[in-house]
Amino acid sequence: MRIDVFTLVPHAYAWLTEQRPLAGVLGTELELRLFNYRDTTPLKAGQVDDEPYGGGAGMVLRVDVVAAALESAYRDVPPPRVIALSPQGRPLTQAVVEELAGEDQLALLSARFEGFDERIVEHLASDAISVGPYVLSNGDLPAMVVLDAVARRLPGALAEGSGELESFSAALGGGLEYPHYTRPPAFRGWSVPQVLLSGDHAKIESWRREHIR
Ligand SMILES: C[S@@+](CC[C@H](N)C(=O)[O-])C[C@H]1O[C@@H](n2cnc3c(N)ncnc32)[C@H](O)[C@@H]1O
Repeated sequence: MRIDVFTLVPHAYAWLTEQRPLAGVLGTELELRLFNYRDTTPLKAGQVDDEPYGGGAGMVLRVDVVAAALESAYRDVPPPRVIALSPQGRPLTQAVVEELAGEDQLALLSARFEGFDERIVEHLASDAISVGPYVLSNGDLPAMVVLDAVARRLPGALAEGSGELESFSAALGGGLEYPHYTRPPAFRGWSVPQVLLSGDHAKIESWRREHIR
């Protein structure tokens, strides 16, 4: 799969690419390309945003800047999924993550300040995704959330089996995962449930099923 991110801060993604799951799949299951709007802006002095028509605070990411970035990356054929990261978008859920992980190609558009000129969302993007009902300062943390969540679903990203029984997975009926414990078995009087120390796999499995939340 290939994911292209359009951003003003490509360097901010360095940390993410050094960590699992991305580090484990980059170059094999995942190709990640980072495009800086400033590199292809048709405006002078690297300008990418402008004052909103109608007045008001903040700056708006220009449609001609995003169009130029997409044209430079794809010529006339953008990928079918060009996703604007926006608080007004479709909420990101595990089901949406699974859907995105099934794509061959994704493009993620990040904005900042007041956000996108609406024509970007209407005409250049195929859809918009929100990472939650709150406002972040730019679309790069949301893009990284999408990257991490999608990368986890790619073959080889996680140790065998560890991605199957997770919160929101079909295997847990969409529920929240059961609690986990590790050593020590007792700490400040807080004990690990006895059944988990029993070695009885059938009982452990049944305890876990009962504790899906
Ligand atoms: C400060 S926000 C713009 C908020 C916008 N003026 C509003 O009130 O909805 C700047 C950019 O950050 C990104 N962003 C902020 N919150 C987001 C969220 N919850 N989900 C996805 N992207 C978000 C988007 O790219 C957005 O255009």
